[in-house]
Amino acid sequence: MSLPFLFATRGSRAVHRLQQSPCLSPISVLSRYKRVHFLRYASSHQCKDNRNHYVTTPIFYVNASPHLGHLYSAVIADCLHRYKLLQGFRSKFATGTDEHGLKIQQAAEAAGKDPLTFCTDVSERFKNLFSSCNISYTDYIRTTEQRHRSAVEHFWSVLRNKGLIYKGSYEGWYSTQDESFLMPSQVGDAMDSSGKDIKVSLESGHKVEWMKEENYMFRLSAFRSQLLSWLRGNPGAVQPERFYQAVLHWLQEDLPDLSVSRQRSRLHWGIPVPGDAEQTIYVWLDALVNYLTVAGYPNSHEQWWNVAHHIVGKDILKFHAIYWPAFLLGAGLPLPQTIYVHSHWTVGGKKMSKSLGNVVDPLERSQVFTTDGMRYFLLRQGVPDSDCDYTDDKVMKLLHAELTDSLGGLLNRCTAPALNPAQVYPSFCAQSFPSQQGGRAVVEDYYMLDAVGKLPALVERYYENMHVYKALEAITACVRQTNGFVQRHAPWKLDRKDSKDQQWISTIIHVSLECLRIYGTLLQPVVPDISNKLLSRLGVRPGERGWAALNFLPRYQGLDCPFEGRALGCDSGVLFRRLDSPNVDKQKPKTTKKSAN
Ligand code: MSP
Repeated sequence: MSLPFLFATRGSRAVHRLQQSPCLSPISVLSRYKRVHFLRYASSHQCKDNRNHYVTTPIFYVNASPHLGHLYSAVIADCLHRYKLLQGFRSKFATGTDEHGLKIQQAAEAAGKDPLTFCTDVSERFKNLFSSCNISYTDYIRTTEQRHRSAVEHFWSVLRNKGLIYKGSYEGWYSTQDESFLMPSQVGDAMDSSGKDIKVSLESGHKVEWMKEENYMFRLSAFRSQLLSWLRGNPGAVQPERFYQAVLHWLQEDLPDLSVSRQRSRLHWGIPVPGDAEQTIYVWLDALVNYLTVAGYPNSHEQWWNVAHHIVGKDILKFHAIYWPAFLLGAGLPLPQTIYVHSHWTVGGKKMSKSLGNVVDPLERSQVFTTDGMRYFLLRQGVPDSDCDYTDDKVMKLLHAELTDSLGGLLNRCTAPALNPAQVYPSFCAQSFPSQQGGRAVVEDYYMLDAVGKLPALVERYYENMHVYKALEAITACVRQTNGFVQRHAPWKLDRKDSKDQQWISTIIHVSLECLRIYGTLLQPVVPDISNKLLSRLGVRPGERGWAALNFLPRYQGLDCPFEGRALGCDSGVLFRRLDSPNVDKQKPKTTKKSAN
């Protein structure tokens, strides 16, 4: 029986073929769903011509220490950056801290510190967290830096000179926690902890206050139709789909002009409006420009600014998908290519907050579960579309099942001296595993080969649209199949002295190591340390770990395999150790001293 065994070509080639095929329907007649996905995929591949890629995290408020949600934003961006590097892109990856505004001013006052010292302390905590969690940023920006101030001043002057900023007045609701202006329809009644009636933002639950001030306004209302045509022409600009739809929906509502400054008497901790020392620039305008500052604005930003991708949490979507594009359109600058939105982590089904005592300290947890353990958990369990609940127990179960037992177990089996006494990448025997049946392989083995052969293209597609959890799900399913393959043929039961058996043992191990090489290569953006350990154990050299080296099982295709006969690496330690339960507080995560909200 001949079995269909098609190794998938790399995604870009697949798209190329699609575009050339005369048998396929023109894009215009595809269903909307297919069209959107085709366009997203095709456009992400078009940027391959420009081998630059620029990814950003939001810059983090320094009013409190980092929590799990912050690490999540950073890990997603880090994963995208590492993936692009593996694909051979020049990738810029920016993160940093958002240090101006009323919220920070008040937090510094409450701490009895001068604002800059206060900001420096907390910014350092973010930096420490990121270095201990392998967040490989290429630029760490603080909005209190001079390079940023110059960029903001320039940006402001461009908008002002184009007549897009005018002197006016704002009267309405303001949330200091969110640093956001709200419409009456976005405000509701609530009671504070002392039983006093207050007004709150319906979206965030944070307290709002009425303010009336002379300040500068940005002509946001003038940009509605341009924003709509940008979104309609770029269905992949905001992902996932449900957030894209949310932005379209907001654009159907009232879009009043936006206040972009505060009176200096109220807000002194910020960048003064150029030419008007009585006013301070609104913190969100200031903060959003950080993406340009890092790109080299205003002097040399083009090569990076044309390829910008933002990772943002769902709470700050409006700022990124409406205000920011409107500012950029106003300044005559290109819009970001993609805004990838993620949902939130909750604890006990609730938003993390200091008052509830449920804030998860990411540094402490990554010391318990290891950095890669934490990264794996966040990306495997975190679904962009909906909120996820965090428990220590879930982390431990997932890591033990997928990293210790499944992946670690497979590596251990195939490299253990009992099964692999020569400690080499053994030979593949084409007679034992021929492309047509007739050798010792059975039908499930061919299915496994087919699945692993197609895995790189599948994972590429999932990484491209930031469905990392789907990529990890697909990899895990393949690891399970490879374990099944080894188990099915039980090479430890075969007779080493029999030459036919010996060839088959070598083939089983060769195929399994090839699978592991693919898994290790694909997992690098998610768990860099574990992948490094795995690939080193297989003897895969640093130059052989890129996307271009993802050629699975070349011997099966009649090609040479550079690894065949090569000595395995000497580090035979466990890939991911079993974590002792006593290290883990199973009840609930400890509260940090300083926490969000
Ligand atoms: N300073 C602004 C961003 C300015 S960007 C020009 C800000 N900072 S933040 O510190 O409050 O949030 C930073 C990121 O952390 C946001 O993407 C936000 O969605 C994310 N998270 C905050 N809490 C979160 C969870 N509980 N879960 C997941 N991510 C969450 O907003």
